[in-house]
Amino acid sequence: MPVQTPVEIAPAKGKLGVLLVGLGAVSTTFIAGVEAIKKGIADPVGSLTQMGTIRLGKRTDNRVPLIKDFVPLAKLEDLVFGAWDIFPDSAFEAATHAGVLEKDLLAQVRIPLQKIKPMKAVFDQTYVKRLQGTNVKEGANKLELAQQLIDEIAVWRKKNKCSRVVMIWAASTEIFLKQHAVYKNLDTFEKAMRENHKAIAPSMIYAYAALKSGIPFANGAPNLTVDVPALRVLAETNRLPICGKDFKTGQTLMKTIIAPGLKSRMLGLHGWYSTNILGNRDGEVLDDPDSFKTKEESKLSVLEYILQPEVYPKLYKDFSHVVRINYYPPRGDNKEGWDNIDIFGWLGYPMQIKIDFLCRDSILAAPIVLDLALFMDLAQRTGMRGIQEWLSFYFKSPQTAPGLYPEHDVFIQLMKLKNTLRHLRGEDLITHLGLEYYD
Ligand SMILES: NC(=O)c1ccc[n+]([C@@H]2O[C@H](COP(=O)([O-])OP(=O)(O)OC[C@H]3O[C@@H](n4cnc5c(N)ncnc54)[C@H](O)[C@@H]3O)[C@@H](O)[C@H]2O)c1
Repeated sequence: MPVQTPVEIAPAKGKLGVLLVGLGAVSTTFIAGVEAIKKGIADPVGSLTQMGTIRLGKRTDNRVPLIKDFVPLAKLEDLVFGAWDIFPDSAFEAATHAGVLEKDLLAQVRIPLQKIKPMKAVFDQTYVKRLQGTNVKEGANKLELAQQLIDEIAVWRKKNKCSRVVMIWAASTEIFLKQHAVYKNLDTFEKAMRENHKAIAPSMIYAYAALKSGIPFANGAPNLTVDVPALRVLAETNRLPICGKDFKTGQTLMKTIIAPGLKSRMLGLHGWYSTNILGNRDGEVLDDPDSFKTKEESKLSVLEYILQPEVYPKLYKDFSHVVRINYYPPRGDNKEGWDNIDIFGWLGYPMQIKIDFLCRDSILAAPIVLDLALFMDLAQRTGMRGIQEWLSFYFKSPQTAPGLYPEHDVFIQLMKLKNTLRHLRGEDLITHLGLEYYD
């Protein structure tokens, strides 16, 4: 039984539109997966919203519902997909090109995938050097392009009879951009859009259009995008949730699982060397040093925050952390990530850990897209606005309130996520103190 008054949550009635920027490997693996799950030919492995449970009350209470039964989430049957891409290929063709899923599986979901044809993208090669496509909008300036998106979203929403919509950036990583004076507030931002200022990347134009259209926005790439003051305030003003950045999959997921464990046992670290070989289009884009710089920043920050060298100088001061990504076409989406971890223990004696993770990038990312779509919609119906830090669990470089350092430890992130859900439903938060069992 809830012990506090639950937060009022509008019911998940009607269709939920999921608008994806980028219809590449991640997006098509996500859509094809949802269609396969709906048909009963696969399970939603990796999705917390579909398979995860949540403990309520005391350990002796035996109340452990599925998360999807505990909070009112949209049903998979109610999801409608739309996308933009610079290539005109349907989701079926794009999925075939991406080569993540087997032909047999794709054949079984061919019909719904073929129906998804990407809308013309807002794109500028200045921001993604290794890409070139024809399915691109033209406009007098960036503000006008945003208006085209806003109009298009309204038409799409009506045509697909969606009662709610969320937008997720799953397009290529843009070049590295730093905070800039034009991001200061909405006036300076809009002026910069009108003047075609270089600091306004295409991803920001989509985010702006989403927030102007009353749509929550999640950023799956490491680009700044919605992580600028003007858009943060716009989200708050329009009472919309936002979150980002960079889906936490593969090597960084492993890092945020292992590093908290090493630290919990006060084991020291001399260095962590990570390298990847990757052969998909994402790998090709990241082969450009400017796009890689955006990714590198996102990947590097994780260990510093988890290990806190300033608090534990004897264990973590000056550890060396190197991250490399090499584009290697034969591997396609099946990345191989190696980690060499030089640790030290009792009396400073050195040890090594080697990880060879033969992972599949899009297989790890697809359930994150699903969970984010459902949780962002939940947040919207709950009236949660601005940065959704409780969704840090899904990101390499979580967006936080200004001045607040991000929490990277995956276990703390999960606890925060679940406690947020408990809070919404008026349940006691779980602190794991447990003294009552011994009273
Ligand atoms: N797969 C993972 O594990 C993972 C993890 C973290 C982040 N990401 C990020 O997610 C994004 C998608 O990854 P992916 O493997 O699907 O890449 P992908 O290259 O297969 O797909 C990206 C798609 O975005 C399109 N695109 C680029 N700019 C666009 C724009 N301005 N508007 C519309 N479409 C545009 C491209 O044409 C491409 O089809 C990348 O930024 C990647 O870095 C992926």
